[in-house]
Parts: sequence; C-alpha cells; structure tokens
Amino acid sequence: METLLLSKDVNDLKIAAKILKKGGLVAIPTETVYGLAANAFNKQAVRNIFIAKGRDQDNPLILHVDDIKKVKKLVKKIPDKAMKLAKAYWPGPLTIIMKKSKKVNDIVTCGLDTVAIRIPENEIARKLITLAACPLAAPSANISGGVSPTTAQHCIDDLNGKIDAIVDGGKCNVGLESTIILITDDTPRILRPGFITKTQIEKVIGKVNVDNAVLNPPKTGETILSPGLKYKHYSPKAKVILINSSLKNYIEYVNSFNGENVYALCFEEDLEFIKINKMSYGKQFDSITQAANLFEKLRELDDLGAKTILARMPKSDGVGLAVLNRLLRASAFNIINI
Ligand code: TXA
Ligand code: MG
Repeated sequence: METLLLSKDVNDLKIAAKILKKGGLVAIPTETVYGLAANAFNKQAVRNIFIAKGRDQDNPLILHVDDIKKVKKLVKKIPDKAMKLAKAYWPGPLTIIMKKSKKVNDIVTCGLDTVAIRIPENEIARKLITLAACPLAAPSANISGGVSPTTAQHCIDDLNGKIDAIVDGGKCNVGLESTIILITDDTPRILRPGFITKTQIEKVIGKVNVDNAVLNPPKTGETILSPGLKYKHYSPKAKVILINSSLKNYIEYVNSFNGENVYALCFEEDLEFIKINKMSYGKQFDSITQAANLFEKLRELDDLGAKTILARMPKSDGVGLAVLNRLLRASAFNIINI
C-alpha cells in the first residue's frame, strides 16, 4: 500500500477525513504523540489498527472526540469528578476512563466494560475529528512496544506502506502520551502519568491514587488495570539501563565504558563531564523539556547505532513522574543503583 503524506492544510485534512470515513488508517498529530486513527464505529478499520501496529488483542484503544457532548453517548454516565476534570483540562493531554455505553464496540475496549476518552488540544487533530464526523480510535502511531512517534518522520519510519496516510503537523509539543485516569466508583486512579500532573488533578477533584504499575513492574498474578502497562514499552532497539546515582557516580560509571556503541543519555549540565558518546534529553530540573525530547532522543540514538544507553534517572515529581515512567519501561526496569 502506498502511504500518502498530507499537510495540515484544510484541503489535505479533507482528504484525510475522507480516508477515515471509508475505513482507512491515518496517522495524525496530537499535542502528546502522533496517533494512528480509524473511525471508531468501523469494526474492520479498528481491527486494522491492531494489525498495522502489531498490537496485542487485549490492549484497548483511546477514543478521541472534538466535543464533550459526544462523550455522553459513549459512556453510561459522566461521573461528577470526570465532568470537573473535563471542564478543567479538556481539550488537553488527559484521558478519562469511564463505564462504556453500548455504542462503543468491544473491539475498541478489548471486551472491557470501560472506555478511555480524550479531547485533544491539537487543532489539526480536532479539525480532523470534526471533518471525519466520528470518534477516532487512536493508539500511538508506532510499532507496538517501540518508541512513540513525536514527528511525522517517526510515523513514516514505523508505518510507511502499512497505513493509508500520515498528516504532518510538525513536532508534538508535549512529547509523551496523555495522563490516563480511571474514574468509576472508587477513588480515581492514575494509570499512566503524563503532562497533567497528580497535583493538577487533585486541585480539581481531591484525592486520587497512583496505580502501582506506574513505577513498579507487574507482580505475577496482579490484576493489571491498564493492559498496556504490562508490556515492555517505549523501547528503542538499544538496551536501556537506568542509572540511579549522584552526578559524580554517574560520571564515573559511564566514563568507565569505552565501547563505540555505548551512549550516555544525560542532562545538559552533565555533558561537559562525560567522555563517552553522549546526548542530552534536557536540563536536570526541567521535566517539561525532558518530556518533549525523550522519545525523539531514543529514536536518534537508535539511528546512530547505539547498542547500550546509560540513562540518567530523572526526578520523579510533577511531569517528571511521566518521564521516569517511560524510562522505567524503556529499560524494562533495568536499574543500576550506585
Ligand atoms: O496521548 C495519548 O494518549 C496518545 C494520543 C495518540 O492520544 N494515545 C496513546 O494510546 O497513548 P496508546 O494506545 O498508545 O495507549 C493507551 C493506553 C494503553 O496502555 C491501554 O491499555 C490503555 O490506554 N487503555 C485504553 N483503554 C483502556 C481501558 N478501558 N481501561 C484501561 N486502560 C485502557
Ligand atoms: Mg502507545
């Protein structure tokens, strides 16, 4: 199949919308990462998402809509806390999981009785949803298990020839996937940290829990609330090792390597002290920049032929929790404490 490369001009968006209406797959920009979109009401189109990505059949998809009114039809009811969060942070990088209505197909939710929904902030994404006139089911537009795409080129690298079109909307601002929160009957639970932080959420709805899976590998027999969290994830081809140490110990450790294919993935301030191959993913205390850069840097390191990546551990508060969560999974919890 030839993959059409489209711009964000309205005429191109109309072409993309037509493809979606006919049941095709289109990679679209959002403020978080690029999504691989299909008409959520078209079962075969949704099935094709799983095939194109090589995604496991038990890993449900997020629905993207352009208006809160459209959410009402997709869920049993919008709980008060969900409504408060929606008013505060939609459109934006926040996904809310609620009990689903019959309108949502089991293929989207992989048989769960809940559905994940968000209204993206990116105007190109919203315009496209409006033109396609349906909710768009969209996981990140990468091969399953790999690093999420933050540019159209990343989508081309992963999915060229496998999908109908890619809309180039430039680089994604946030750079990491949306915060996911489960709001059913119990205390709301953050299943995946993102740009909207726990503090921001608690300001609006009070106490929330952070799921154990955010910072820990799954224990055998544990029920995984978000199926996507049980897999190794966000992984480049290179082996990632997360180094939890002081700057001094990090420098000493990485400088003891001399292989060509070993890279230090560190903070900007560390660069001058490192003697091996190196790349910065942002300043030490600037989690927002780290989030925006991380996936792009992991892909760049693969392109450079890195075999081992020695990543400096980010701080874990605010948006840092999301950065740490992605690095823990990229490394499959391979952490060295020095
Ligand atoms: O920022 C984002 O959320 C991006 C953009 C494209 O919107 N999308 C994204 O989708 O990250 P994906 O498929 O890569 O990640 C969705 C995660 C998966 O871990 C999946 O298991 C979880 O959401 N999920 C979806 N529906 C769920 C549900 N009903 N219950 C629990 N987890 C759910
Ligand atoms: Mg993904």
